[in-house]
Parts: sequence; structure tokens; C-alpha cells
Amino acid sequence: MALSPAVANLVEEYKRFNKTTMNELFALDNNRAEKYTIEFEDLIFDYSKNRFDDKVLSALIKLAEEHNLKNRINDMFTGKKINVTENRAVLHTALRNFSDTPIYVDNVDVMPEIRRVREKMKTFSEAVRNGTFRGFTGKKLTNIVNIGIGGSDLGPYMVTAALKKYWAKDIKCYFISNIDGTACAEVLNEVNPEETLFIVASKTFTTIETLTNARTCRDWLVKALGEQAVANHFVALSTNTKAVAEFGINTDNMFEFWDFVGGRYSLWSAIGLSIALAVGYDNFEALLKGAEAMDNHFKTAPLDKNIPVIMALIGIWYNDYYNIHRYGVIPYDQYLKFLPSYLQQLDMESNGKSVRLDNKKITDYATGPALFGGAGTDVQHSFFQLLHQGTEPVPVDFIIPAVSQNENGKHHEILLANILAQAEALMKGKTTDEAAAELRAAGKDEATIEKLKLNKSFDGNRPSNMFIINQLTPYNLGMLIAMYEHKVYTQGVIWEIDSFDQWGVELGKQLALKILPELENGVTANHDSSTTRLINKVRTIRAKAVTKAA
Ligand code: F6P
Repeated sequence: MALSPAVANLVEEYKRFNKTTMNELFALDNNRAEKYTIEFEDLIFDYSKNRFDDKVLSALIKLAEEHNLKNRINDMFTGKKINVTENRAVLHTALRNFSDTPIYVDNVDVMPEIRRVREKMKTFSEAVRNGTFRGFTGKKLTNIVNIGIGGSDLGPYMVTAALKKYWAKDIKCYFISNIDGTACAEVLNEVNPEETLFIVASKTFTTIETLTNARTCRDWLVKALGEQAVANHFVALSTNTKAVAEFGINTDNMFEFWDFVGGRYSLWSAIGLSIALAVGYDNFEALLKGAEAMDNHFKTAPLDKNIPVIMALIGIWYNDYYNIHRYGVIPYDQYLKFLPSYLQQLDMESNGKSVRLDNKKITDYATGPALFGGAGTDVQHSFFQLLHQGTEPVPVDFIIPAVSQNENGKHHEILLANILAQAEALMKGKTTDEAAAELRAAGKDEATIEKLKLNKSFDGNRPSNMFIINQLTPYNLGMLIAMYEHKVYTQGVIWEIDSFDQWGVELGKQLALKILPELENGVTANHDSSTTRLINKVRTIRAKAVTKAA
């Protein structure tokens, strides 16, 4: 395909620029850090440690303009059906709209319904927390068990963990997602039926993992307290009223959301009920308001001062011009340890696509990178070796609050020193001469120096973004999450893909449904020889184990 003017320009920019190192750029411009930092409310975003100069940045901005990014942002916020393969609007932003602005889908203002469900969540979460809504035997419901998977799990799981400091003292949250019976068994071993509220969270209410886990929990509860107890111990979060009723949950105990809320964008909806229960509705609302602040920034800031847009463009620069298809997110905050898993779904399920909006297969550029990460400093002692000395660079997002919620002696200063040192080390590197000089100063002989100096050198020039928030509050967390959502959308716009469908998860589901009866009754379908052989092997092992157990 012929290159568009903006892409052709970027190809030329890459040829001009790609040998330039960040050390050179910093040496040339004392002002670089200030110039390439955006401060927004409690957030500092320093993107100066990336491989670009003014010309590259303006070429990237032109790429965004070529894709009419400003209009496309407006399309999302105003309810245009931008999820084209499912013919749906994409309005997670409406869930955190606290303005009076109506938002229309098919000529209907969705805001009154959104406000109604918010109010219902407030009333219910307060009633559970203050003990007005109780379990069947009159006990306070203090164990909250969210049963869901993917977007109906990862968001609330990550946010409740991130806001642990805000939990009510007597409330405990559990999450069951995996179909592996162990997930259910381990939680049920810990909770007491009389004090447990199960939240069945499923947008479609057809997901096999969630429904199987929910049935197991329901049976467990009914066995302990009887069928009548279900109404006090089960609520549903879904878009599918009929399926909720069929499952045996009273639809009065259902909190609705709508098909304009994508699973991985749903923590702001009723799917956030476990958050409201754990941290209180006011803190849940603060989370929404933080996201709303980022929404307003994304909508109104000029492209070159727009945090999600800059993040997206830098990501595209590495992905499509440097051909680096990996991306690390490293929060230096124990409370944010699940953020990378959450972002994995957000980013990879949204932008792991290879069909364009014009229905053509993508053959000449790359879309979403593989995202991974973990909490610092732990990961410094696991995969950071590859980040520093592997053959390919991995662009990294570093995230840290300036003030910890657990300030204790020197802990947080050591943490801060580490994050700043890692970003500096990745960029600066260490030459073989520097490594040799260090070895010499340590008294090593020349043969040892010769043997070790290359191993002890670092190429450097490895890029990173630095995000510093004042403190990890619900509001600031909302801002951070929304920032990533908008980065993902911006990249989807530029890659011309639908960031809001997920057809890629379907094939495996279909085949699992075929294989399931074959594990019991023997292979009937026409599989490849590997799959057939593995099914038979597993059948033999299980048959023996069951005979033994009997
Ligand atoms: O894995 C596919 C997916 O559809 C995700 O997009 C979604 O978050 C998850 O399954 C759960 O779906 P549901 O909420 O409908 O149970």
C-alpha cells in the first residue's frame, strides 16, 4: 500500500534520527526534561527519556492529525457507533460524566439511566456497609466475593487491591475468575455462608467460567442456608436481565449496565460494585471523578500537550518505526501490583487486531505490542536483566506516588531512589571504558578486566516514561486508568482498527466446547494428531486416577 504523507514523512524522520541517542539529546538541550514534561493536577508525566526530538514529535503529531484524531475523540465522547464490528457506541466515559451534558445513543439520552444505577449502587453499598442489608440469618455481610472474568474481574480486582488502604475495617474482598475449581474452592474455604455476599459479574451472563463458578457458589450457599437465602446473598451485574432471571437471581438484585460499555472498560459501571462495597461509594465516586478529569484533559488539551496522545504516539514510534513490539509497565507501588495484568487486557484485547476498519487485512504495519510488567522493586530482581542488557530494548512506563500510604522509615525514599535510578540507568547505560575503569579501581587485573568489561557494560538508550502522582488516592487512580484507556484508543485510531471488539477470543471457546464432551466420551471430531493424542492421554490418566480414588 502507498504510504500516506504523514507515514512517508515519519519513515524519513526515522532514517534521519534513529542513530541519535538520548544521551546526545540531553547533552544538546539542558531544557529537555522541562520541555517534555506535562503536569496535570496531581500527575507529572516526564516523557523526555524517549528517542525523539522536536522534528520527530511534530511528524508524529501530523500522523495523529492525518487520522483526524480530534474528531475521532469527539466521536467517542458523543456516542457515535465507533465499535463498528458490533455496531455499538463506546461510552465508558459517560459513566463518569458528572456534568449536565446529555449523551445520546440512538436519540436517547443515556445519562438518566446511568445516574439511576449509580444511585442504586450507592444505596445498596451503603446498606451492606452499615448493616441495613443483611444476610439471610441476620448477620452482617462482610465477605464480598466477586465472580467474573476478564473485564468483569480484572478492573475491580486491580482497583480494590490498589485502594486497600480505603477498605472498611470489617470488609474482605475475594475474587473468583478462573474456571479451575481451585479458584472457587480456595475462596469458599475461607468464607462463612452467613456473612458472604456473592456478586455475579458478567456483561453477557453467558460466560462459561463465570456461570460455572456462580453455580458452584450458589449450590454451596443453598446447601448451607437453603434456597430462600439466595436473595440475600446473590446479586448480579449484567446487561442481560433475562439470563440473570433464568440463573435464579431476582432481577431486583441486579445492577444494570449497557452494551455501550465494553467489558474491559466496565469498572466504572455496576461492575465496580465490589469497589463501592470495599471502599465506600464516595471513594468510588472519587475514582470516577478522577477519570472524568482525565477525560476532559483528553478532549480539550492540544495534541502536543495531551498526555494520552503523547503516550500513544511515542508507543507507535517504537512499534512501527523501531519495530519494537514489547512494552513494560512497572508500578513502584505494592498496591498497584495488579495494574500490569489489568492493562494487559485493556491494551492487548483492544489493540491486538489485524483487520482494519475498512475491512482489509493489515500486512504492512504492526498493531498492539505485547504488554507485561510487575511491581518494582521486585521485578528488578527478575526480568530487569533483559531490560538492561537484552538484545532488544523494551520501552517502559514507570509509575510511582511521591508520598506512600505507608511512610515508614526510609522505605519510600529507597523505592523512589530505585525507580529514578532504573530510568536513568536504562537511558545512560555504561560504556566498556567506564566498566573497565570501575574494574581497575576495584583492583582487578587486566586479564579479568578484558574478560568482564563487555559483560559489565550497558548499551543504554533504552526509553521510558515516568509518571509521578502525589499519592495513590481513588481520584488519582481514576485519572491513571482513564489515561491508559485513552492511550489505547488513540493508538487504535491511528492503526485504523476497532479497539472495542474481541473476536479473537471466540475460536478457542468454540473448540473447548467441542473437546469438553470428548474428554468424557472419547474423541469424535477431526482434530490434528497432537490434539487427539493429548485428549486420549489425559483420558487415560484421569480414568486411572478416578479408579484409584474409588
Ligand atoms: O475474554 C473475552 C471477554 O468477552 C472479555 O472481553 C470480557 O471482559 C470477558 O470475556 C467477560 O465477559 P462477560 O462479562 O460477558 O462475562
